[in-house]
Amino acid sequence: MTQDGKKDLVTLVDSASGQKFELPIIPGTMGPKVLDIRSLYGQTGYFTYDPGYTSTGSCESKITYIDGDAGVLLHRGYPIDQLAEHSDYLEVCYLLLKGELPNANQKEKFEKDIRTHTMVHEQINAFYRGFRRDAHPMAVMCGVVGALSAFYHDSLDIADPHQRMIASHRLIAKMPTIAAWAYKYSRGEPFIFPRNSLPFAENFLHMMFATPCEEYKVNPVLARAMERILILHADHEQNASTSTVRLAGSSGANPFACIAAGIASLWGPAHGGANEAVLQMLTQIGSKERIPEFIARAKDKNDPFRLMGFGHRVYKNYDPRATVMQRTCHEVLDELGVRDEPLLELAMELERIALEDPYFVEKKLYPNVDFYSGIIFRAMGIPVSMFTVLFAVARTVGWVAQWNEMIGDPHQKIGRPRQLYTGATQRDFVPLHARG
Ligand code: CMC
Repeated sequence: MTQDGKKDLVTLVDSASGQKFELPIIPGTMGPKVLDIRSLYGQTGYFTYDPGYTSTGSCESKITYIDGDAGVLLHRGYPIDQLAEHSDYLEVCYLLLKGELPNANQKEKFEKDIRTHTMVHEQINAFYRGFRRDAHPMAVMCGVVGALSAFYHDSLDIADPHQRMIASHRLIAKMPTIAAWAYKYSRGEPFIFPRNSLPFAENFLHMMFATPCEEYKVNPVLARAMERILILHADHEQNASTSTVRLAGSSGANPFACIAAGIASLWGPAHGGANEAVLQMLTQIGSKERIPEFIARAKDKNDPFRLMGFGHRVYKNYDPRATVMQRTCHEVLDELGVRDEPLLELAMELERIALEDPYFVEKKLYPNVDFYSGIIFRAMGIPVSMFTVLFAVARTVGWVAQWNEMIGDPHQKIGRPRQLYTGATQRDFVPLHARG
């Protein structure tokens, strides 16, 4: 806004016609201002071209703020390291969904609301048996979460705020159960039902590792580490999976279908699949002596290999989540008495060498959240194929919060990008006998 109360504007000049166009600038509370291009096509006849949306703000949001250059991540204004240190996952869920940290009564009620939805419909139990035992658990997650819309008909009306709230609670509450059961199914072990007396992360670890045969006590250090990992992954602004959820939801699709779409997007190795890919990469590298060979491959434009767990679209500095993750990694290994974890030593050496290499320095490629998480998961006894599933469990609240925000946004429209068409121009149909 200028001092006389007028909107700041950017003037565009069409060099072909000499015509001038004005576009308003909108400020946020933090971060770069945005250019409001909604009238661009109407005014100029041009669309914008921005593959990968590197310069496009797709929505207005009050949930998460990232300053990628400074390595800052805030949820509703609170720094991620403070939340990871002092809060718990369900409290962060409340914060993301409702905008404020809960007071004691609100916290107790929210935890109870989530607890009452941890079980899944008994018929879902049977649904698992349609999958092969060796199916990737992310494939099972896409299927089972998508299928929730076939079970919970009373929370599909997105125009009803109460139904939206119930669907949100159901998704947050049932995701650990669905994920743990995907693991149990792959092992041929009986499903373990949720224990609502346990805190969120502990309950999840219990469903993963307990059996009906004997008492299983979750290690409190591991439960705390899992709680922290869930917090670190809870939301991350308009990333690929969140944008997928918003785009799917923009058509009015039901929340369970939208979250299943988010899970599918998360699965890719450039996104949530990176934690699995990091461990595979470290195993492939095998020894410190081979690091230079893989660094050289990562820099080679003719080699598709990339250092997994390195680089980020937004962070051009150390990912603040990776800092907490590295600390948590040491805590977990200490607790488990793992003195020499070759993969951790390899990861730390790889990080050291990469951060001194001009290629990674110039391109500002730093370790991201996925670089250390796999080592922690492995030490906890979680199989590699479950790594991205854990990310999905944690990110569900982010997806749900962003979906709710979108539904409540008066500017919300169906997402419908345009394109730069470079295909054939109009031509007449050629009958089969006349084609060469
Ligand atoms: N190893 C080697 N080179 C890289 C890497 C990497 N990990 N990441 C980026 N580069 C290079 C890339 O080749 C490009 O070079 P040039 O400018 O010479 O063509 C430059 O850095 C910019 O890369 P980009 O692919 O244009 O950047 P982007 O913002 O589109 O991609 C990214 C971001 C995360 C997909 C990418 O850094 C990457 O593939 N990293 C490895 C996968 C990974 O760890 N993903 C997890 C992301 S964090 C958690 C999450 O979001 O789920």
